[in-house]
Amino acid sequence: MTPHWNIFADPREVAEAAAEIIGEMARHAIERRGLFSLVLAGGSTPAAAYRLLREQEQDWTRWEFFFGDERCLPPFHPERNSFKARETLLDHLPLESHQVHEIPAELGPEQGAEKYEPLVRNSRPFDLVLLGLGEDGHTASLFPGQEHPAERLVVPVYEAPKPPPERVSLNYGALSSCRGLLFLVTGESKRHALSEWRQGREIPASRVRPPIPPEVLVDEAAWGE
Ligand code: 6PG
Repeated sequence: MTPHWNIFADPREVAEAAAEIIGEMARHAIERRGLFSLVLAGGSTPAAAYRLLREQEQDWTRWEFFFGDERCLPPFHPERNSFKARETLLDHLPLESHQVHEIPAELGPEQGAEKYEPLVRNSRPFDLVLLGLGEDGHTASLFPGQEHPAERLVVPVYEAPKPPPERVSLNYGALSSCRGLLFLVTGESKRHALSEWRQGREIPASRVRPPIPPEVLVDEAAWGE
């Protein structure tokens, strides 16, 4: 399915658009189903959008947060995706602990994946999945050349080319089980991966195939034209 490419001048505009889309999808989901389940992206790109999102007037009691992947580091390690999400978004919201589902990646890749799988199985389809894009085309912790059994919803990752080497990731099927999918891609370093994707070449990001076209928010530096 061809993604919808949305090009913005710079990372700030990408963040503004992302926060707006997330907020609107949340209001819509809460109105229709009384809940908004959101899978957060890791890495550094989403931080600006998270900081804008936390300023919105929302019924935060209806939000439920999951993670697309996590690095196998101690629970409060600053390089964990959960740490970054708490610092920029979650710790600024009036949430109950049961609303945030961290991946127990401190248990290691296999145990962390096994423990998170039942939650993902029972929470699909997610209302919105947020993802970033790596320079090699990876997304979450699904890397080129690393295959996983399709029937597993959450997978252990070893020897990841992006440190740390051990991670836990939602698999393609779990990331695709959503009502909306939003990629945030900024910076010249992502230009090659984006170009491959635009030309129809398979990269991990293009293997996430929800029932609706993904919305890809990119800045001009990543887009290249
Ligand atoms: C991670 C992320 C990873 C990230 C991309 C882009 O754990 O690092 O899950 O998939 O989204 O590598 O990272 P940046 O946003 O930092 O460029």
